[in-house]
Amino acid sequence: MADSSVQSRIDPFIARLTEALGPKGVSIDPQEIAPHVHDWRGRWNGSTPVLVKPASTEEVSKALALAAEFGIAVTPQGGNSGMVNGGVPYGEALISLRRMNKVREVDPLNDAMTLEAGVVLTQAQEVADKAGRLFPLSLGSEGVATIGGLISTNAGGVAVLRYGMMRDLVLGIEAVLPDGRIWNGLRGLRKDNTGYDLKQLFIGAEGTLGVVTAATLKLFPKPAVKETAWVVVKSPADAVELLARARAWTGGAVTGFELIPAFGLGLVLKHIPDTRDPLPAVAPWRVLIELSLPRPEGAREMMEGLLAEAIEAGLVGDAAIAENIAQSAMMWKIRETLSPAEKAHGKALKHDVSVPVSRVAEFMERGEALVKRMAPDGDLIAFGHVGDGNIHFNVTAPQGRDAEAYLEGEGKAVTQAIHDLITELNGSISAEHGVGKLKRDEIARRKSPVEMEMMRAVKRALDPENRMNPGRVV
Ligand code: MLT
Ligand code: ZN
Repeated sequence: MADSSVQSRIDPFIARLTEALGPKGVSIDPQEIAPHVHDWRGRWNGSTPVLVKPASTEEVSKALALAAEFGIAVTPQGGNSGMVNGGVPYGEALISLRRMNKVREVDPLNDAMTLEAGVVLTQAQEVADKAGRLFPLSLGSEGVATIGGLISTNAGGVAVLRYGMMRDLVLGIEAVLPDGRIWNGLRGLRKDNTGYDLKQLFIGAEGTLGVVTAATLKLFPKPAVKETAWVVVKSPADAVELLARARAWTGGAVTGFELIPAFGLGLVLKHIPDTRDPLPAVAPWRVLIELSLPRPEGAREMMEGLLAEAIEAGLVGDAAIAENIAQSAMMWKIRETLSPAEKAHGKALKHDVSVPVSRVAEFMERGEALVKRMAPDGDLIAFGHVGDGNIHFNVTAPQGRDAEAYLEGEGKAVTQAIHDLITELNGSISAEHGVGKLKRDEIARRKSPVEMEMMRAVKRALDPENRMNPGRVV
């Protein structure tokens, strides 16, 4: 986007855009643009000549058709809460979907709802709730993350072990192709065996194939009761064993199972206001367990029975069951603020990795040894979705060092070593945060040539001019 021929096309492009979308749909105001060109962790700073703000699918279509006509690259953006430098523009036109925030349809009998891309996740959860249903996706940034961004990044979060990732929650999508054509794939069908499942191409594509403008999403029965427990364990191995028991004991009612390190808990208590340790203890790990049940009768006894048996078996040191919503909210607050607390502690090498659940303990032991050896002055903050085999294995830059220089310099060797270990364990170097610019070269190195060639072929087929979020993913 830096070459002068592109520069000369930008002004007429913006003029035609303004004609087509009206002044509300286009901004070149640096103040309005500013929050869109940095990521929330303050790691990446980009720029854009224009912020496009369509209010309808037709306006997205007009914008992309004009971008095609003028040969302009485009970066789509949702809530801008991503982790992998995928949605920050570097000279591309930025298209923000936030004004497209209508609820198009709620169909409780079909357990489905159709929302536009700019609907924020907490609003989506409320829409489902009002219809007497559950939309189960849940994650730390749910107050800002949008449906379009969550689809484009195939978001995960804290309920994946029961309900799956975004990929599993989408019945249909509507998308605008790079040339401006609209594809209406908003089918609310559980069964549709008519060839390639094209919607899946757009889920997790990070805007590299087109712009997702709306989606039909799955709804679930709303649990009548949730039981939450804060459990002290001595090792990730015990946590994994506890998960297997919890699933068997409750007949599959485990909807949350999150691992929290004592060090991370300490950071939350230090940096996040109004937090309190639910059960002070010296052990190195905590597990947050949530059960979701269709009837209140017997729910508490089920959790108590599970924990009593686990204490008896020596898997659990101590445990506290939330007595009310406030106590359960406190437990979840600690879990959900691990990431901001880590940010307050310092910049970190982020490793969003996964292994088969059966290998989590081995990964944690070997990974911890590796960090002690290669980054003895950094802090390891390993936490997260142990029930999915997905650990956020983050390592902060050593205190007192220029953090950015460390992350961009010798920290890279630490990342390589952790990723080598993950590869050896048959895991993934990006479990739920995606690829963006951050891991683009890394996946090209680690995936087989045949897999990369299939991905590139899809990209060429849908975006032959490489104008959609270029330089991300493939
Ligand atoms: C989380 O689960 O809290 C985030 O995905 C993790 C992170 O910030 O690394
Ligand atoms: Zn996570």
